[in-house]
Amino acid sequence: MAEPKFAPSILSADFARLAEAVIAVEKAGADWIHVDVMDGHFVPNLTFGPKMVADLRKATRLPLDVHLMIERPEEWVDRYADAGATYLTIHIEATRDVLGTLAAIRGRGVRPGLTLNPETAVDVVMPYLGSVDLALVMSVHPGFGGQTFIESALDKVRTIREALDEQKLAAELEVDGGVKPDNCARVVAAGATVLVAGSAVFEDPAGPPAALRKFRQALRR
Ligand code: DX5
Ligand code: ZN
Repeated sequence: MAEPKFAPSILSADFARLAEAVIAVEKAGADWIHVDVMDGHFVPNLTFGPKMVADLRKATRLPLDVHLMIERPEEWVDRYADAGATYLTIHIEATRDVLGTLAAIRGRGVRPGLTLNPETAVDVVMPYLGSVDLALVMSVHPGFGGQTFIESALDKVRTIREALDEQKLAAELEVDGGVKPDNCARVVAAGATVLVAGSAVFEDPAGPPAALRKFRQALRR
């Protein structure tokens, strides 16, 4: 099985010690840092904005995988691009101008990503696969860490994987929510190339390096 990239979500880290958290997972071999931006409208929770992304940019050399759980993401593209986002992923449910927003992101030299909520049919994202560098399948209802993986996400991953392969598209296929050492092999087998994990990494009593080792071991079995 091809080794996926690991993108620890700092949503489950101590917000007062984010630089330490990012440095810890970077040392432990994380590939990306997943940054969950929430506006209290698109999702019933609030996290942080562009300044946090800019400050994180100074704390690590890893790609910043910014997941925008916000309404009207088109109004924020410039600020997150200025802040140094590497990937900027928008929700298809959050904007009326999906193509225009993806193009604006790419126009700023940032890699555009598109995601969908668990209740959104996978069909709606299929026409946009050629316009993104990242397709993200949500496997929990966005807003909070520590929720249970929704199994039907795997079918969406397989559907998107097939389409990417058929169309010879190299976009990353990421899965976010409830990803743990005990289900990550199934997620990768379905075709994911990037695994987001928040609580499994930052709430493991053994610490983030041991947590990432558990994922890698699970994938070797
Ligand atoms: C949920 C966020 C996720 C979250 C995942 O809205 O998009 O990135 O941090 O957390 P876990 O891995 O705990 O489900
Ligand atoms: Zn996320």
